[in-house]
Amino acid sequence: MPKKILVSGMRTTGDLHLGHLEGTLKNWVNLQEDYECYFFAAVWHAFTDTIISDVKEKTHSMIIDWLSVGLDPEKSVIFRQSAMPQHAELSIILNNFTPLGWLERCPTYKDFVRDDSTRAGVSAGKLTYPVLMTADIAVYKADLVPVGKDQIPHMELSREIIRRFNQYAGDVLVEPKELLSDVPLMLGVDNRKMSKSYDNAINLREEPKSLKAKIQQMITDPQRIRKTDPGEPEVCNVYAYHKIYVKDKLEATADGCRTASIGCKDCKKILFERINNMLEPFRQKRAELEKQPDYITDVLKEGEKKASLVADQTIAEVRKGLGLYY
Ligand code: TRP
Ligand code: SF4
Repeated sequence: MPKKILVSGMRTTGDLHLGHLEGTLKNWVNLQEDYECYFFAAVWHAFTDTIISDVKEKTHSMIIDWLSVGLDPEKSVIFRQSAMPQHAELSIILNNFTPLGWLERCPTYKDFVRDDSTRAGVSAGKLTYPVLMTADIAVYKADLVPVGKDQIPHMELSREIIRRFNQYAGDVLVEPKELLSDVPLMLGVDNRKMSKSYDNAINLREEPKSLKAKIQQMITDPQRIRKTDPGEPEVCNVYAYHKIYVKDKLEATADGCRTASIGCKDCKKILFERINNMLEPFRQKRAELEKQPDYITDVLKEGEKKASLVADQTIAEVRKGLGLYY
């Protein structure tokens, strides 16, 4: 049996944090053992928010983060969306199989427009975001797409767009399924959604000193003012992190908190040690990779060659299905 094809992308929006690691990257690292995987840096999708000027730095730093946690260019095809004109060609074609209403009704688009009543900041790129995403997926005839819950509306649109195209052009493209993983909810150190824009994220690149400072900043049970006050772990963000990183001591921690036999300081110290130990091998791998910037460029170029073999074939079939290039 040939392996199933799996495609996913990540926008190049800046430093990756623990949310990316737990929600996406650890999953990708496991999936690359069982599927034919295509993972790419989605620069064009990042552009729909803002035209980033330091594309190379952002892309390379993201790819270094991917490799440092175990994505392996020997196992997965790793590349840049922006180096693949095939994605763009298919996207332009699929635009014409996509009723405007579908895009205008997309919840991610509606949320975006709601915050911008004049629509001055709403580009055509923002509107057609899901069409480009469909092209990213369909150009490899992907069976599976690992994504977060927030991407479900895009995946539904993808299937509908592909179905419409196939009705016209014959069954050229493949309707993909999303692969949802159990993503732990990880809040930032201020209890808001973990995000670069709130400056509340613990980054993959966090050094021990700043990691310690960020964990010290974390909000605990607000009712637990003195060490002698019993606490309630279920309302505490530090404990939510223990559920991910200190699983083996969970009961003892909850007990210690409720009986006031451990203090928040100790509780945070354990968490710091665990996260710091987890990050240490990533730091070492990253330091090695950063010494050889040409290697990253080579990985990407190699990935783009491999991706092109598949994408070119699909594009040829798409053109044929539409009667282009006779
Ligand atoms: N929209 C995705 C996100 O923000 C990123 C993305 C772009 C993607 N193209 C894709 C994910 C294709 C999966 C497949 O997370
Ligand atoms: Fe949170 Fe730990 Fe303090 Fe309890 S002891 S409130 S779980 S930090």
